[in-house]
Order: sequence, then structure tokens, then C-alpha cells
Amino acid sequence: MSKTLVAYYSRSGHTQRIAEMLAKRLGADVEAIQDGSQRRGPGGFLRSAVEALFGMEPELQPIQHPPKDYDLVLVGTPVWFGHVSSPVRRYLRDHRDEIRRAAFFCTQGGRSAQHAFTDMGQVLARQPEGTLSLGDWDIEHDGCGPALDGFAQKLDLH
Ligand SMILES: Cc1cc2nc3c(=O)[nH]c(=O)nc-3n(C[C@H](O)[C@H](O)[C@H](O)COP(=O)(O)O)c2cc1C
Repeated sequence: MSKTLVAYYSRSGHTQRIAEMLAKRLGADVEAIQDGSQRRGPGGFLRSAVEALFGMEPELQPIQHPPKDYDLVLVGTPVWFGHVSSPVRRYLRDHRDEIRRAAFFCTQGGRSAQHAFTDMGQVLARQPEGTLSLGDWDIEHDGCGPALDGFAQKLDLH
């Protein structure tokens, strides 16, 4: 059985919820990517927007689970102005040489996640083995179960 890690950043809880549901299905460890930035309120929203739009990469807190210890790493991000969130961009940059196999998931308010996945693939310099995008309405109304089941089953966990 392969060893799997679910690493995610979450500003307001959606991506965390999905990460925990995926980890439960996959028997995976969980890494909460954290930075020191204040992202609450209008100021935090603005900072997050600017960082995402300009491809900025904030300093991160130390990680608990080195990706090199895992066969597969699922990386999750909220979509920020069509892009990957800045903490996840930094995480991928810092660990891209340690990540052997990757899959991506994202949460979003309704617009397409394709640019965010493109960002992630570019930083990692590799295509993911799978992607999953989930909308806020489904997350808040417990509507993600079948999509998560399908995504987890498609990942090759030999
Ligand atoms: C700064 C910022 C920018 C956002 N931009 C988008 C966007 O471009 N498209 C979209 O569908 N949702 C956008 N959202 C909504 C979030 O992607 C969505 O609510 C997500 O589920 C939040 O995940 P979290 O609770 O894990 O932080 C944005 C949210 C923030 C805070």
C-alpha cells in the first residue's frame, strides 16, 4: 500500500474540510500549509487577491510531513482570482523536487479552476495524475461525497 499525503491551504475552512474527507477515504496523512499572514477581513482578502494575481509566494511555517516520505501527494488550494492561492504556490515551489507523484484539488466559488491547476502544474513542472474542483455550494450542502469517492478511486494507490 502506498503512502499518501494530503497537503492543503485553507483561509476559511472549505479546503480543509475537503482535505480531511479525502484523507479519510485514502488513509492519508494531512499537512495544513500555514503562513504567518493575516488573511481575515477586507485587508486579508485584498492581500490574498494581490498575492494570487501577481504570483507572489509568502513565507510558510515549518511543515510536519516531508513530501519526500510519501509516494503520492495530493495538494489542495482555494481558487483566488482564478489562480492558485499564494501559500500553495510557495509550498509547491519549496517541495517540487521531493514530490514524486501529485494530484491536485481545489475549492472555488463558481468560476473555473483551470487556471489554478495550470499554475500548479507550472510550478511543479509536471502534470498531476488527477484533478478535482469543488464548488462552495456543494461543500456547504454536503454534496461532495460522490465526486470525492470517484476521485479517490481513480488515484492509483498500488
Ligand atoms: C481572495 C479571494 C479570491 C477568490 N477568487 C475566486 C475566484 O476567482 N473564483 C472563484 O470561483 N472563487 C474565488 N474565491 C472563493 C474561494 O475560492 C472559495 O470560497 C473557496 O472555497 C475558499 O476556500 P477556503 O475556505 O478553504 O479558504 C476567492 C476567495 C478569496 C478569499
